[in-house]
Order: sequence, then structure tokens, then C-alpha cells
Amino acid sequence: MPESILEVEGLGIRFGGLHAVRDVTAQLPAGKITAIIGPNGAGKSTFFNLISGFYAPTSGRIRFQGEDITRLKTHQVVGRGIARTFQTTTIYRELSVLEGVMIGHRVRTRAGLWDALLRTGRERREEAESREAALRALERVGLAAQAHRPAGALTQEGQKRVGIAMALASDPRLLLLDEPAAGMNPEETVNLMGLIRELVGGGLTVALVEHKMSLVMGLADEILVLHHGQKIAQGTPGEVSRDPAVIEAYLGGHAHGGQMGQPGREGAHA
Ligand SMILES: Nc1ncnc2c1ncn2[C@@H]1O[C@H](COP(=O)(O)OP(=O)(O)OP(=O)(O)O)[C@@H](O)[C@H]1O
Ligand SMILES: [Mg+2]
Repeated sequence: MPESILEVEGLGIRFGGLHAVRDVTAQLPAGKITAIIGPNGAGKSTFFNLISGFYAPTSGRIRFQGEDITRLKTHQVVGRGIARTFQTTTIYRELSVLEGVMIGHRVRTRAGLWDALLRTGRERREEAESREAALRALERVGLAAQAHRPAGALTQEGQKRVGIAMALASDPRLLLLDEPAAGMNPEETVNLMGLIRELVGGGLTVALVEHKMSLVMGLADEILVLHHGQKIAQGTPGEVSRDPAVIEAYLGGHAHGGQMGQPGREGAHA
């Protein structure tokens, strides 16, 4: 077993009567790429919301690098070294790419939004640090040359990279990507895969939610499959794609899941 960076045990959350994530026990191997897949509504984004502290679980525990982080707030989780992108990123179209990444960074690392927006003396010092962090992050995603352009002028792929830079600015050890390739054409998707491989080559651990099976199968070292909030399989792409429970989840009853390897809804998701 490779060393794991994150372990969840019996993790679950209910929204009223709906058990969106239920009794999930899993590990993310350090320095690897784990894809989290499953049909629409399977609980994938909710799983990320739990790990990143956006939702408090109603059961179970989360350990990151040996520390129990189950009850930490989002900015504390960011401080420990977990960063995420969102299924839809808010891009401040009129601001420069750099300013957008700085704001994204500050909102995530502060207890409150006002703290991030108020300009005190301490604030100005931290702004300089924020700028450095944002520039380094833009460098890592290949956008350093675009730093002073309006964010709205970037392509779809460029805007996705800005979303990744916002997450990287906090210098995480674990990066959670929610549908990074949504809305991208095949060429952009291949570029994105190259970027993710580079980041992992530099020592980052990545977990990603993605519907594009070409990306999942071409990139993931390990795949975790959720269905109705429960983990139904975890293993290598080969193991998972042969797993009867996985095949049943994707083919049985629900047309929207798409067949593994040739899903019907690639790119259809915003
Ligand atoms: N804050 C919330 N309040 C109530 N229900 C929620 C909340 N967040 C998620 N859910 C429900 O939990 C279930 C899982 O949603 P989730 O967004 O995690 O699915 P998903 O696997 O990411 O789906 P998709 O592939 O469509 O993005 C859905 O039924 C959703 O409606
Ligand atoms: Mg989702």
C-alpha cells in the first residue's frame, strides 16, 4: 500500500432525509492522482465539500497528514494544505488575472470576507505576500505572461487555469479539482492533463472529479467510484472498469451515467 495523504473513515452527511454521502471509507495515495467518478448526484462535489471544510460531516472522520481535520473551518483546512477549485469558478472579468488570483487567495485564507477586503496596515503587508503567492501560482499554471490582462479576455481553458492558480496560491499539498475539464474541447483537455501531470511531478497530490472518461482513464493512478453517496469501488483504472458494481452503476437504469470509456455526456456539464 502506498502512503496515503488523506484518510476518511465512515464519512457521511445528510441533508434532511437525503444521505448525500454515506459511510465512505477511503484513502488518497500521496503524490498520485485519484479520480472520483460516479453518475450525476452521486455525491462527488459533496465529498469535496466535506474534505475542504465547506460542510461539516454528520458522521465519520477526516485525517490529513496524520491530523484529524474533521471539525476544522475552511480557512483552517486551507492552512493545513488542502486547496480546491469549484465546479463553476467565479471569474472577476474586469479585474486583471493577477488581482483575481489575489482575491481568490485572500478570501480562502481568511476567517471572513471583510478581513480580506479591509485595508489595514497589516493588510498592506499581507497584500504584498499575496501578490507574490499569486504570481508564483500563475507561473505554475503557465499564465505569468497574462497576469495583467483582464481575466474576462482569457479563453475557457485560460479561465480554468486561473481557477487552479487561485487554489495553488495557498501552496497546498493536496489539490481538489471539481470537473476541471468541463466545457473544454479535446485539445484543451489534453493541455490540462499535461498541466496536472506537471503539478504532480512537482510533488502535489491531486484528487479530481471528472465526467470525461478519456481524462480519467488517461490520468488517474487510482479511481474511487461513488454511487448514491456510497463508495462502490476503489482501484486502478483497469480494476475499476472491470468491476461489476461499477458497470451496473453506469449502465443500470440511469441513462445519464454514460458507459465507462465512452460516456454520452462529455462536456455537457457546466
Ligand atoms: N447543500 C445541499 N443541500 C441539500 N442537498 C444537497 C446539498 N448539496 C448537495 N445536495 C444533494 O446531494 C446529492 C449529491 O450532490 P453532489 O453535488 O455532491 O453530486 P455530484 O456527484 O457532484 O453530481 P454532478 O455530477 O451532477 O456534479 C444531490 O442529490 C444534491 O442535490
Ligand atoms: Mg458535482
